Amino acid sequence: MKPQTAPLIVRTALREAFAQLRAAGVPSHTLAAELLLMHALGRDRTWLYAHPEEVISDSEVHLFTNLLARRAAGEPTQHLTGKQEFWSLEFEVTPDVLIPRPETEHVIEVALDRLGVREIRAGRKQTFSGEGLQIADIGTGSGCIAVALAKELPGATIYATDISSAALAVARRNAARHSVSDQIHFLESNLPDEASHLSLFFDLIVSNPPYIGRREAATLMREVRDHEPEIALYGGEEGYELYAELIAQAAAKLKPGGILVLELGHNSLPAVQPLLDATAWTNVGATNDLAGIPRVIAAERL
Ligand SMILES: C[S@@+](CC[C@H](N)C(=O)[O-])C[C@H]1O[C@@H](n2cnc3c(N)ncnc32)[C@H](O)[C@@H]1O
Repeated sequence: MKPQTAPLIVRTALREAFAQLRAAGVPSHTLAAELLLMHALGRDRTWLYAHPEEVISDSEVHLFTNLLARRAAGEPTQHLTGKQEFWSLEFEVTPDVLIPRPETEHVIEVALDRLGVREIRAGRKQTFSGEGLQIADIGTGSGCIAVALAKELPGATIYATDISSAALAVARRNAARHSVSDQIHFLESNLPDEASHLSLFFDLIVSNPPYIGRREAATLMREVRDHEPEIALYGGEEGYELYAELIAQAAAKLKPGGILVLELGHNSLPAVQPLLDATAWTNVGATNDLAGIPRVIAAERL
């Protein structure tokens, strides 16, 4: 933002912010500027565009200027506003968790579809609350998958694991924010190890594991590479290294007919699909994301 000589109004603030973020090479700079101004003013987008002549106070200008400078330097917008929407729910986001991505919503869609089909096959009604279902979410991060499933399946019990205690603290707060704390048990665990000490078997295991290859690190956007937790990004040198152990543990912990739903990295399918072999798995299927990339693989335990 330029130093101000006259009082700053909303329209000018937005116009200057668009220019500043565009010049800094910020992706989706218009949206970023709007979100930061909404955050600085405590207003929604409708208000911004309905009040273009509204004067912004000095303290708001100071806050907005600071947010813009941090965004221009590469900090993700969600770290500055502290939130991200997922499955039409607002999640707290900190630098300790992966920012929930829109493509992860396919994990929820596939899981709900597969559970629905299972109900129909069993001759039960199509719409159900998940009564009695035991679900595990491995690598829960912000808790976005666990919380979305808890909201969709109020009768289900969910075990959400993560290797990061800092991530689990955020996930617990998100469960409380959405009033599903009673449904979700949080466990600090390497993969489902800890859950495997529980003497229970699951109807559904979901996971969006770290799947980026360390050798791809240089190709990542700075917002991701420099600001999101490494433990949430990298699955190993190639990226797909965690899937073998995850699938083996899932095979041991799913009930017969239980469902596994995994998010995939952009090039993981050829490495992951063969791990779901016919000795233990059936009905293996991949789902593309909106960009046409195989993004989710699902299978049923024999
Ligand atoms: C890609 S993030 C996914 C977070 C969240 N589920 C989502 O979809 O936005 C992967 C998560 O797995 C966790 N993680 C990494 N390695 C793990 C392991 N060996 N066992 C359990 N969790 C792990 C990370 O801390 C991170 O929160």
